[in-house]
Amino acid sequence: MSEHRIIAVINQKGGVGKTTVSANLVHGLALKGFNVLAIDLDPQAQLTTSLGVDNSEVNGLDEVLLNQRAISDLFIPARENLYLVAAGYGLADIEHITEGGASRGMLLRNALTEEIEHYDYILIDCPPSSGLLVVNAIFASKEVLIPMTGDFLALQGLSHLMATLGNFEQALGNHIRQMIVLSKFQARRCLSQEVKNKLIQHFPGKLLQTEISESVALAESPSFGKTIFEYKPKSKSALEYKKLVDDVIDMRAY
Ligand SMILES: Nc1ncnc2c1ncn2[C@@H]1O[C@H](COP(=O)(O)OP(=O)(O)OP(=O)(O)O)[C@@H](O)[C@H]1O
Ligand SMILES: [Mg+2]
Repeated sequence: MSEHRIIAVINQKGGVGKTTVSANLVHGLALKGFNVLAIDLDPQAQLTTSLGVDNSEVNGLDEVLLNQRAISDLFIPARENLYLVAAGYGLADIEHITEGGASRGMLLRNALTEEIEHYDYILIDCPPSSGLLVVNAIFASKEVLIPMTGDFLALQGLSHLMATLGNFEQALGNHIRQMIVLSKFQARRCLSQEVKNKLIQHFPGKLLQTEISESVALAESPSFGKTIFEYKPKSKSALEYKKLVDDVIDMRAY
């Protein structure tokens, strides 16, 4: 594996499954033997918690973005083949930095430069906003993964997000590969199917083939600090996430 992929998990809408997707994807990739780095870019620190790490007991990304610490000082071994950079206590303060002009958006990209070659996958779990933290994630990434629910208003939000990404591509001068995943899917609802069809129609080549169904196990697992592969390894959800991991690896989209 020579490709080093950096993927920002983004959606400005809250509660769509960004953190759940991030936690289960990073673990799923690590279980396949890839070297994976998970970065918690959300001051809510829910990726950190979901992986069973107490954010109040560790140093995190705030040290890198605010105090210029080397990011490698903050790697926490989270699972075999998986390192985590926790959010840290002061991460929300980034949004209030007023000095530095455009370079404020490049802090994470610069921090990662030296690390990229050590990892097959770097995933960045973003907060539900479009502020400076998310700007840092997008500038640091070559790809974005957008978790979506199967409801109608989500589609509107997605068009807006795609337009924003277009502006970023112009500023960066290169393409940002886009992937969409239906992360809380209710297969029996007609509306969900309609939304899925619309995604395939309007965003060809972007919707990953495996949708993640809504399930109690997925909602419960973070409270134990476990991923679905640990909490309910034989469940339908674990199987779906396993397939989703392969979709991301092989870029299997509709
Ligand atoms: N497939 C699913 N089935 C059932 N519950 C789910 C599923 N995916 C996520 N959830 C639950 O939905 C809630 C929101 O998910 P999650 O925290 O991953 O979203 P988010 O986009 O990261 O939220 P935020 O915008 O606040 O960061 C959580 O309680 C999570 O456990
Ligand atoms: Mg989240």
